[in-house]
Amino acid sequence: MDEKKVGIIGLGKYLPENRLTNKDLEKIVDTTDDWIMGRTGIKERRIARDDEATSDMAVHAAKMALKSAKLKPEDIDLIIVATITPDMFFPSTACIVQNKLGINRTPAFDVSVACSGFIYAIAIASQFIKSGIYKHVLVMAAEKMSSVTDWKDRSTCVLMGDGAGAAILGEVKDGGILSIHLGADGSKGDLLKMPAGGSRLPASISTVEARMHFLKMQGNELFRHAVKIMAEAALKATEPLGLKADDISLIIPHQANIRILNAVAKRMGIDPAKKVYLNIEKYGNMSAASSAVALCEAVEEGRVKKGDTILLDAFGAGLTWGAIVIKW
Ligand code: COA
Repeated sequence: MDEKKVGIIGLGKYLPENRLTNKDLEKIVDTTDDWIMGRTGIKERRIARDDEATSDMAVHAAKMALKSAKLKPEDIDLIIVATITPDMFFPSTACIVQNKLGINRTPAFDVSVACSGFIYAIAIASQFIKSGIYKHVLVMAAEKMSSVTDWKDRSTCVLMGDGAGAAILGEVKDGGILSIHLGADGSKGDLLKMPAGGSRLPASISTVEARMHFLKMQGNELFRHAVKIMAEAALKATEPLGLKADDISLIIPHQANIRILNAVAKRMGIDPAKKVYLNIEKYGNMSAASSAVALCEAVEEGRVKKGDTILLDAFGAGLTWGAIVIKW
């Protein structure tokens, strides 16, 4: 029997209305629009309302994806949410989303892989369909990064934004996911982390006073690893298929920093202006949601057409990374 082909059959996104521009940030920390644009390529980012949690954004994106796949919530067999900013530790954000979609028997769980979360979640989802266990899997990547951002730390607060993307996976006749490469290196976990709030350092007055419930990052070091890891991951996903850089129509990367993406493109020998999809200017780094929203917008804008071979490529805290080749 032929192996099932698994593809993305619906996409959705949600971006909160509130825009935080570099000019706004100039009033909050000692920074400039020039510095942020020059070092990161970010012009503005979206910030969720106080009463808007990660699950709320995920549900908006999910509803759009369901509509685009012409499916009803009852058609979904499994729900996966990729997030490092869950509504709360437990229940999982996936269970909260499930309840909001009104499909209270559907299995649901979160994956915590930081910025590579969308790639990991797609990889997991695809196995359930390939094996014939499930027909339709709803994957969401949703983050309220503003809730873990230290608005007194200029080296990190200029980078992050909030948003959500969603994809529905199902069997397709042609193309679909051609290869998956995932990786992780726990020895470099200190480069990007939120130190307190877990079982190691539960919330206390001293952890709050020490601002340990915000993300901490060693930007320079991370930058170096990101370039190397994303280029390697791209190679690991494309090489087994015999694909060269020229065979890829568009790379849809995690949007961490425009300089990282230009350096990755250079290593791969491709023209970033033509073949790298960018929306970082509008949204900043939305962790797992970045590549999900980027994929949705690339398709909306007609940058991905039927028959195109595209590459999703991400890295993040953990460290984790992943790359997926899809024939659209
Ligand atoms: N505005 C103005 N100056 C700033 C600033 C800001 N927002 N943030 C940092 N600076 C200053 C620093 O204090 C430093 O000043 P000093 O030389 O007087 O000490 C100077 O700018 C250079 O800082 P540095 O950290 O070396 O800058 P950089 O070129 O490495 O850029 C990042 C910083 C964070 C943009 C960059 O390292 C980066 O993008 N790293 C990867 C981050 C990432 O991808 N994270 C997510 C992973 S998924």
